[in-house]
Amino acid sequence: MKTYDKSRKLFEQAKMMIPGGVNSPVRACRSVGTDPVFIDRAIGSKLIDADGNEYIDYVGSWGPMILGHSHPAVINAVEDVLKRGTSFGAPVDLEVELAEMIVKAVPAVEMVRMVNSGTEATMSAIRVARGFTGRDKIIKFDGCYHGHADSFLVAAGSGVATLDIAGSPGVPDSVIQHTMSLPYNDIETFISVMDKSGDEIACVIVEPVAGNMGLVPAMGGFLETLRKQTQRHDCLLIFDEVMSGFRVAYGGAQQLYDISPDLSCFGKIVGGGLPVGAYGGRKEIMAQIAPEGPVYQAGTLSGNPIAMAAGIATLKEIKKSGFYEALEKTASRLAEGLKQAAERTGTKAVINRVGSMIGLFLTDQPVASFDDAKTSDLEKFSQYYREMLGQGIYLAPSQFEALFVSAAHTDKDIDETIVAAEAVMGGF
Ligand SMILES: Cc1ncc(COP(=O)(O)O)c(C=O)c1O
Repeated sequence: MKTYDKSRKLFEQAKMMIPGGVNSPVRACRSVGTDPVFIDRAIGSKLIDADGNEYIDYVGSWGPMILGHSHPAVINAVEDVLKRGTSFGAPVDLEVELAEMIVKAVPAVEMVRMVNSGTEATMSAIRVARGFTGRDKIIKFDGCYHGHADSFLVAAGSGVATLDIAGSPGVPDSVIQHTMSLPYNDIETFISVMDKSGDEIACVIVEPVAGNMGLVPAMGGFLETLRKQTQRHDCLLIFDEVMSGFRVAYGGAQQLYDISPDLSCFGKIVGGGLPVGAYGGRKEIMAQIAPEGPVYQAGTLSGNPIAMAAGIATLKEIKKSGFYEALEKTASRLAEGLKQAAERTGTKAVINRVGSMIGLFLTDQPVASFDDAKTSDLEKFSQYYREMLGQGIYLAPSQFEALFVSAAHTDKDIDETIVAAEAVMGGF
């Protein structure tokens, strides 16, 4: 029987000083009716909490840990760089090295700017798009999450969906009046909006694999339509690959689906578990950014050497031949196992998967949009989450988040996870 005494005590202390006791809302586990466990350390596929309980981790710090935790190549790279100092606020060789790796990995990215989070990447990308086109309006899609910048807090996924809030107080109407949010995978609606307003749109931003309403792949020519229509109306197409970048393929979803966006945003894996974001695209667009152009964007710790070193070490590992094939095999074994566990227990479940990202929805209808995702049984999901945690399986505490498989997950991990899932589903 697991005990959680130390986590409970830490959470009580945290709540007195940190809003909700956490530094990012979903971590508080409110939607699944429990309190968070505090993590002490992590290695490979495992997390160990403050009370010494061990879990097989499918959150992976919300995506970055594609190699698993404490990978020796990343730890060694960070240790080496630490000896040179932690931050200089001046250019370093490692920024050039990581920029070159990104540019080589993603052909649509000719120039790239490093920032410190995914939010900074997307927020800056739309600023550049607005500066480049001279237009203000943007289109996003329901259930997609692009970070917490004002312009994106309309029908957003992730924590906004988990907490079931429409938007956020503090975001002026004068800002979000420029944001239109349309249904994901709904080609007809998108075309009709573009026919009417396409020439006023600065950019269309999309998660090419949506991972913030559970996992919902783009389908039926949706991304191709976005590409065609944006070209037709001279507005920019932005792929938010903060989650899918270097995850679904080394070159991201744009490689997987062979579509070139005008701008791309990265985060998570590109920082190897340290705070990094990046945005990039065609030279003529990126040349708008200061000091080359007039669009302002800056950062005290941007291009930080330790973060760059972690990113470089991670990309070097995942670039190795056979990496994505092995990951695909592990992830498909898990997805298939979960599907069978649901079937064997008569549980209504839909499992979506793209590469090592998986969404398990407790519903009986296909999930292609945020509305579809919302048909899931959230009560049952809460039970599933809590009981899986009790069995040593650490999942994201929300129906509207994806599950990430890493290279550190073993067949044994996967088998144990499937056994646990079947036991939990059997008790529904
Ligand atoms: C697709 C996508 N874009 C942007 C973000 C924001 O990134 P960050 O949390 O690093 O600000 C996230 C975070 O989960 C994301 O999944």
